[in-house]
Amino acid sequence: MKNKPKRYLITSALPYANGPIHIGHLAGVYVPADIYARYLRSKGEDVIFIGGSDEHGVPITIKARKEGVKPQDIVDKYHSIIKKSFEDFGVSFDIYSRTSSETHRKTASDFFRKLYDTGKFIEKTSEQYYDEEAHQFLADRYITGVCPHCGNENAYGDQCEKCGSTLSPMELKNPHSTISGSTPTLRETSHWYLPLNEYEDFFKEWILQNHKEWKTNVYGQCKSWIDLGLQPRAVSRDLDWGVPVPVEGAQGKVLYVWFDAPIGYISNTVELLPEKWEKYWKDDETKLVHFIGKDNIVFHCIVFPAMLKAHGEYILPDNVPANEFLNLEGDKLSTSRNWAVWLHEYLEEFKGKEDVLRYVLCANAPETKDNDFTWKDFQTRNNSELVAVLGNFVNRALVLTAKYFDSKVPAIKQTTDYDNEVLAEIPKIKQNIEAAIETYRFREALKETMNLARLGNKYLADTEPWKMAKTDMERVSTILAISLQICANLTIAIEPFLPFTAQKLLKMLNIPQYKWNCFGKTDLLKQGNSLGKIELLFEKIEDDVIAKQIQKLLDTKKANELNFYKPNELKPNIAFDDFMKNDIRAGTVTDCKKVPKSDKLLQFTINDGTGTRTILSGIAQFYPSPEKLTGTQVCFVANFEPRKILGIMSEGMILSVEDADGKLVLIQPSRKVQNGTSIG
Ligand code: MF3
Ligand code: ZN
Repeated sequence: MKNKPKRYLITSALPYANGPIHIGHLAGVYVPADIYARYLRSKGEDVIFIGGSDEHGVPITIKARKEGVKPQDIVDKYHSIIKKSFEDFGVSFDIYSRTSSETHRKTASDFFRKLYDTGKFIEKTSEQYYDEEAHQFLADRYITGVCPHCGNENAYGDQCEKCGSTLSPMELKNPHSTISGSTPTLRETSHWYLPLNEYEDFFKEWILQNHKEWKTNVYGQCKSWIDLGLQPRAVSRDLDWGVPVPVEGAQGKVLYVWFDAPIGYISNTVELLPEKWEKYWKDDETKLVHFIGKDNIVFHCIVFPAMLKAHGEYILPDNVPANEFLNLEGDKLSTSRNWAVWLHEYLEEFKGKEDVLRYVLCANAPETKDNDFTWKDFQTRNNSELVAVLGNFVNRALVLTAKYFDSKVPAIKQTTDYDNEVLAEIPKIKQNIEAAIETYRFREALKETMNLARLGNKYLADTEPWKMAKTDMERVSTILAISLQICANLTIAIEPFLPFTAQKLLKMLNIPQYKWNCFGKTDLLKQGNSLGKIELLFEKIEDDVIAKQIQKLLDTKKANELNFYKPNELKPNIAFDDFMKNDIRAGTVTDCKKVPKSDKLLQFTINDGTGTRTILSGIAQFYPSPEKLTGTQVCFVANFEPRKILGIMSEGMILSVEDADGKLVLIQPSRKVQNGTSIG
């Protein structure tokens, strides 16, 4: 923006309400957005910060179907979990609402209708899969079939999870509906499309020419989309969950989730400010900034702006500072594999340490490339930065003041050149923080903030006031007064990043929260004022606490490997007659014991209906008390060629199956049957 904006409208991606949120969400989107919003508020700007849940889309309907509940139940559950996590971590939304709200339905409908009425859509008919038994069109995710690239039999209509190919449902061989299991048929359906191709020149100018300052990752993605040529995008779907298409005859159709979700930013503003919302969305002097993750770039830089432009009354984003992804201990975060640090779980184990996580996620934010969260790094940053620098400085300043001045703010008597140099650093640091935040470089801004604590720490270490306590109380007074003023400046500097810590520190200093324009002053504390009770801002995190978290992840990894156990390839088909050659029967165990000199074998004596027979089975490890099997029934192949093992004749084979841990489990009839009954 050329002129200084009159007001700010900050949005952060609306998370899907189909699961809780994890550190990746916080690091990529919500911590930076919150820092930006808090900073601007502290500067006294007119700012609103909009959040909410994205409650439409196919994955939510799939989850509901799986759990046998309604989509609304799913989103109700996760909306409140997500909302609470944001509150817990101090994400200071002015509103956190949801796209299943009535306000949203109306706002999104009206928006669609305006574009429809002014001829901004094209209508196209295409053939799509239809489930004749369930009487509905099938979203891509509801169709499975054989992947044309790798032969995976369970590929989805939009992608194959085995080979990673992106697919369209028509490419699947042998398609099936996951709703009824039936083979879908093709039916004609018509949808509305936003002809993005007609906006190419606009995007070339608006982004490629006029927004060269956007982050390189964002600009680069936009450029490659534009260079490839933009295509019309469908804005409706055949689905029964979403905002109904407000057009006569469009029964069974809803707005595509990526059409309605960004309008959620507008709806939530309407809900927050029913009288004044238009000022924020329709006045050129508003600066609109979207905070998102990199997978959302095309929607926020191309699709949504095209919608806004097509509508005609709205402003466009000034910037879209998208972040890359955060990984966890070297692997991609994944909800389905439970590879994540969930915010609600973090708080169970690190109660009161909200700011520690905010700090680590900001210090290590994936601003320019994907980054890794590791528990070791979390520990190091806590112990050697928060505890050793920030906590330590504040604590020394307060403890020394308690000791020498009975916790009353001493006076700055006479300053030395060194004192003046230190004081002159404060406004420089302030400017550095401002420059970094205003260009969305939050890691850098946090580093500068910590430099203020470093400055204080070094000042105390260099001046060593404790050594002068007997000889030069005037000097001690000046040094501690300066240190305390640095502490007071820290409360302003850290507030956007570490809001809980800022509150604690304000209480200890017994001052109100000063605004950003007070940053740099050296009279924030009045001489003679009493300080509050001293508390530790941070505490050391010990190795065993970290080891426990790492172990938890190792357990997850192990569980995942077992869950992803791939069954053996199927063997070729056999004829009925071949199957009937097996003589499989049930019988009762009359005795069972370990075979001496073998740790694998159990010796079963089995009543097979006509008499008893002996069968050896290699399951001893898994049945440590074999005598307990006596009286139960097992299944065995009765015509298995008898063979001698360790001198014992074994007359058959007992059936068992391997569990996920590789343990063998006996196959046993679920209720008693006649001994000798054939199985088939
Ligand atoms: N729910 C989407 C996601 O998690 C983000 C939606 S952002 C909005 O990827 F623009 F649609 F609001
Ligand atoms: Zn495949």
